[in-house]
Amino acid sequence: MPDARPIGVFDSGVGGLTVVRAIVDSLPGESIVYFGDTGRYPYGPRPLEEIRDFAVQIAQHLLEQDVKLIVVACNSATAAALPEVSASVPVPVVGVIEPAVRAAMRATANGRVGLIGTEATVRSGAYQRAFQALDPAGTVEIIAQACPRFVEFVERGDTTSHELLQAAEGYLALLRVASVDTLILGCTHYPFLRGAIHHVMGDDVVLLSSGDATANAVYDALVSGDLLRETGGPPQRTFESSGDPDRFATLVTHFLNPQFRGALGVPLLSVWED
Ligand code: DGL
Repeated sequence: MPDARPIGVFDSGVGGLTVVRAIVDSLPGESIVYFGDTGRYPYGPRPLEEIRDFAVQIAQHLLEQDVKLIVVACNSATAAALPEVSASVPVPVVGVIEPAVRAAMRATANGRVGLIGTEATVRSGAYQRAFQALDPAGTVEIIAQACPRFVEFVERGDTTSHELLQAAEGYLALLRVASVDTLILGCTHYPFLRGAIHHVMGDDVVLLSSGDATANAVYDALVSGDLLRETGGPPQRTFESSGDPDRFATLVTHFLNPQFRGALGVPLLSVWED
């Protein structure tokens, strides 16, 4: 039975667009409502309880728009609140951590996996728990590094400056010394910095972002739940933010491919106050 309802996707800002891109690649017929909580970004330095409250609130907001599935396209929110979000809504919920951990398990040859993310994600230990669940024998060693300033660069639209490359050299030094062969980009903003991260880490390190793996999990959930849209007519893609709508629209068009320009919905003004 076709299901024309949109997929709901959220992040603290524009990082979740990396997941949207992957979903659109594998499910081009699906409608999407994206919510970037730019009015309360960044999540990284916030306590996990606060991120949990935000995530449950946003899931409710998406549900009011009749979404059929929710993607928590934010590692910090997935780390802090995936079970709570799942328990608070009557639709399937997909997070970004487990799909990335599965991909890292497959990718590593030397068993040394680097993880970079926000302070909240690293502090939560959620990645370590996901590895432990999939690899109880502990054959993989995780070396984690918080990179708080990376998100600021992305939210400024800066993916190439000298300052960014300097920050990358500093954050990634420990991971180079640790000889990781696989690096999880454990924040959905970081795939926009893939060039800078690759420049520092070199060709021999596999960079893994959760976008493709999460899009696969969304695909599986739609098929197994009989939730595919499968109807004619163009899908609708709406991008909302809780912060400055013009700035958000500029960043969305900057980071998504040009064909999205005509597909932007009208970003909402502040959906709620802090
Ligand atoms: N993009 C988010 C993540 O994946 C959070 C960035 C932030 O707001 O600090 O963790």
